[in-house]
Amino acid sequence: MTLTEINEKLVEMLPERRMQHSLNVANCAVKLCDIYDCDKEKAYIAGITHDCAKYLNNDQVDYYVKKYNINLDEYEMNNLALSHSIIGSYIAQYEFKINDIEIIDAIRYHTTGKENMSLLEKIIYMADLIEESRNFPNVDLLRNLSYSGKLDEALLISFDNTIKFVIGNKQLIHPRTVSARNYIMRNL
Ligand SMILES: [Fe+2]
Ligand SMILES: [Fe+2]
Repeated sequence: MTLTEINEKLVEMLPERRMQHSLNVANCAVKLCDIYDCDKEKAYIAGITHDCAKYLNNDQVDYYVKKYNINLDEYEMNNLALSHSIIGSYIAQYEFKINDIEIIDAIRYHTTGKENMSLLEKIIYMADLIEESRNFPNVDLLRNLSYSGKLDEALLISFDNTIKFVIGNKQLIHPRTVSARNYIMRNL
């Protein structure tokens, strides 16, 4: 699909506010590419599509899981907050016909992160958090770090925040986030 066709699909799949977020993530990711020397076209496509599965209803989730034989783990099962990134990577690949594995993986891991993330995966993960409409305590610290060459420092703080938040809410932590956090910490 062309970018215009993908955009038209996304407008059908996402409420206006989420579409704006997706555009913001794409633009923020492109800005980060300037700093970290990453492929801007890939970053834009990954950014715009990353949340494509965020508003699927249960029937649509079942439909795609069956259609593409998607293997959701025990954390992702019945949890669209986590599974939308996995399901979204399949929609991007097979419905939008995006064949670039780096883009697909950046979509796939944008919620949990993972051990040993690629540069594009890191950029999409951070752009999702710091795009201009985001507003939470410490977002400016994350922006300052991300825009000043300290992407890994920003990621470590983000993973720590996520883990603390999940513990605070007495929810399960996805083990990929723990691995992501430990990996970054060891390598900083
Ligand atoms: Fe998302
Ligand atoms: Fe997002």
